[in-house]
Amino acid sequence: MGAQTSSVVGGVAKETVVGPIIMLGPPGAGKGTQAKLIAQRYEIPQISTGDLLRDNVAHKTDLGLRAQASMDRGDLVPDDLVCDMVALRLQLADCVKGFILDGFPRTVQQASWLDGYLETMRAGKNAAGQAACAPPVVIRLMVEYNNSLQRIVGRRSCPTCGRIYNIYFQPPIVEGICDFDGTPLVSRLDDSEDVVKERLKTYERQTLPLVDYYRAQGRLVEIDGDLPVEDVTARTVQALESRRSP
Ligand code: AP5
Repeated sequence: MGAQTSSVVGGVAKETVVGPIIMLGPPGAGKGTQAKLIAQRYEIPQISTGDLLRDNVAHKTDLGLRAQASMDRGDLVPDDLVCDMVALRLQLADCVKGFILDGFPRTVQQASWLDGYLETMRAGKNAAGQAACAPPVVIRLMVEYNNSLQRIVGRRSCPTCGRIYNIYFQPPIVEGICDFDGTPLVSRLDDSEDVVKERLKTYERQTLPLVDYYRAQGRLVEIDGDLPVEDVTARTVQALESRRSP
C-alpha cells in the first residue's frame, strides 16, 4: 500500500493511504457487511448511499422527499441527486486516506461522474494525496439470485449502531436484540419480497453494465460472495493488498 508510518494496528499501518474502494453487487450480496469490516480494518469511512438516502428520508429533507418514491418502488434515485450527495460526503476530512463506497456507483453515468470527480481531486496534490483519490479498486461480490433473496428477507439491523444480522446466517445472541448495545433490531421497509424482486431487476438492468465498464479499465476484482462472511473478507483483503502493493 502507500505511505507508511510507525504505528501499526492489526497488521495495517495506521496512516496507510488506502485510496478509494467500491463494493459492487446485487441487493443482499453482502456489500454493507463487508464494507463495514474493511472500513474498520483500514480505518477509512464506509460511505453507503443507501444509508445516506434512508437518513435523508427519515429526516424528511428535500433530498429525502425527492428520493423516497423511487426507493419505495425499488428503483434508483436520479443520478444527479445521488452524485451531489456523494460529492458533499467525499469532501469531509475523514476521506483523507481513502474511503469505501457501498452502493455507489450504480449506473455507468455515476461511474463516469466519479472518475471525473477523482481526477479533479488529484490535481495539484502530492503523491500521498493523489493515492487517496486514485482510480478505485472495484470489488464485485457475486451471489446466486436465491441467496440474495433469502439474505435480504432474513436481514435485521440495529438502528443505533448499524450492525447487520441475519436470522438464518448471522443471528444475534438474543433473538431480535443487538449484541452490542441491546437495541431491538429492525427490518428495512424496502426488504419486502415484492420490492426486493424489483431491486434485483433494477440491478440487472442498470448496474450490471458497470462490470464491463470496470473490467475494461482493469480495475475489477471478482469474489465469490456466496462464501461465509469471514472467507469473503479474507479474499477481499488479499485482493486489496495485492492490487495496491508497490
Ligand atoms: P442500498 O441500501 O444500497 O441497498 P442494496 O444495494 O439493495 O443492497 P443491500 O443493502 O440490500 O444489500 P448488501 O449488499 O449491502 O447486503 P448486506 O451486507 O446488508 O440501496 C437501497 C435503495 O437506495 C436502492 O434501491 C435505491 O433506491 C437507493 N440507492 C442507493 N444507492 C443508490 C445509487 N447509487 N443510485 C441510485 N439510487 C440509490 O447483507 C444482506 C444480508 O445477508 C444481511 O442479513 C447479512 O447479515 C447477510 N450476509 C451478508 N454476507 C453474508 C454471507 N457471506 N453469508 C451469509 N449471509 C450474509
